[in-house]
Amino acid sequence: MTSPESLPDATDCQRVGPLERGLAVLRVLCAPDADRLRHSDLVRATGLARSTVDRVVATLERLDLVRVDGREVSIAPRLMEVSGAYLRACGIPAALGPLTERLADELDESVSVAVPDGEDGVRFVLQTRRRRTMAVSFRIGDLLPAGRCAPGALFAAPWSEEQWAGDDQLIEPGLIAVALPVRGRAGRTVCAVSVVSHTSRHTLQSLKEAVLPRLREVRTELEAALAAPRTEAAPAAAVDLTLAVKREVGPGFLQSLARGLAVLVALGGDRGEGMTLSGLAEATGLARATVRRSLLTLEQLGQVACEGRQFRLAPRVLELGCARLSELTLPEIAGPHLTALVGRVHESASLVVLDGTDIRYVARVPTVRIMSVSITVGTRFPAYATSMGRVLLAGLAPGERPELPDVLPALTRHTVTSPQELDSIVDRVAADGFALVDEELEEGLRSLAVPVRDARGRVVAALNVAQHAGRGTAEEARNALLPALREAAELIEADLRALRSY
Ligand code: PHB
Repeated sequence: MTSPESLPDATDCQRVGPLERGLAVLRVLCAPDADRLRHSDLVRATGLARSTVDRVVATLERLDLVRVDGREVSIAPRLMEVSGAYLRACGIPAALGPLTERLADELDESVSVAVPDGEDGVRFVLQTRRRRTMAVSFRIGDLLPAGRCAPGALFAAPWSEEQWAGDDQLIEPGLIAVALPVRGRAGRTVCAVSVVSHTSRHTLQSLKEAVLPRLREVRTELEAALAAPRTEAAPAAAVDLTLAVKREVGPGFLQSLARGLAVLVALGGDRGEGMTLSGLAEATGLARATVRRSLLTLEQLGQVACEGRQFRLAPRVLELGCARLSELTLPEIAGPHLTALVGRVHESASLVVLDGTDIRYVARVPTVRIMSVSITVGTRFPAYATSMGRVLLAGLAPGERPELPDVLPALTRHTVTSPQELDSIVDRVAADGFALVDEELEEGLRSLAVPVRDARGRVVAALNVAQHAGRGTAEEARNALLPALREAAELIEADLRALRSY
């Protein structure tokens, strides 16, 4: 008899079709060479009916997991909540990240951690790049054939103290690596740590001599970190799939796809012991029968492994976008939100970063040109005379503000030229959370800016909307533009949090 906590054998009627089809669409969208695909490409690649693809895409779009731009579909940063659930559950990046960072600094070589995926695959779960080792660098979530990288050999053999593996250009000319197995709490090899170098600096033999003794010492620390009790609370999911599931949803929304993904994301809350059906029902607010059918489907697809009554995520979950999303840049993340903001306020919007005492444009969506100079990505302006610069200066700790000259050059007759006055303006910007600058950089130009914070709360960029100063009073501009500007910044921040959600 089947215990109520474990799964019966899957039959077609017990599996969740929409979840299977949803994951099939996601896998195609996440393939290494896919970027933007049309619905017809998805139909061809999945073999599903056009109407099915349409409903899957509409559901994934409602969940903020994909973006639809005209006729093209692409994955959205919040998909990392799904894909990164494995990284959260396995706990390897959180436990080993600081130690591998230190080792990479000390050796001045790249260090990575990989886990086995099936019989003949290896997936990277941590990458700490220190030197340009290779033309193609493997990303978190990338799958390598076990026979063509150092970690592969380690997973095939039982654990032993002396065991190590070398990669002498197996995967790429010039690329060499030395790897050691690392044991988890139960004493079995759970991952492998590699030091990766290049034949321009080492032979495999000299790399081994240079790093193996130290790598063995560090392994003791890595194993202790993996064995330490997991006290960290599961980070709150930026995408609340269960909320989306419970909300009134229109026709065409595939509830069971959303529910299945909610189960997958909830498994990211596993602190190393696996999760039970009851635990998952509680975490998702879904009925046990619904959770069971989702688990059955996920297990069939190799996304979930089941041992007795415990369910845990499998490394294959990483194929749902992790590698592609882990290399998104800030301009790529912000781009769609800038476009949407410009569509809303009908003024130009830009994203800048601080570069010394200048701001540097990293993304821009113009409407009509109101500046005498044309601004492109890469354009720089002095931070002191711009709203975005003041927002970025306000984001620094007081001691970190860059040295400014005794008198700031006046760029117009309105420019604040006293560093003391600028200091108190920047303090006020820090308190208000926005900056408005009227005609200090250029006559006739007004700009309103807000900060954009990363997952750790640090100000990493400033977002602005610029308009003609003749449009109305500064007060009117603030009232009309600030809410939309803040909402756009919050959406960028939510994406940044989702991308760091493990
Ligand atoms: C890597 O981290 O990129 C890596 C590690 C081990 C290998 C090859 C590449 O054998």
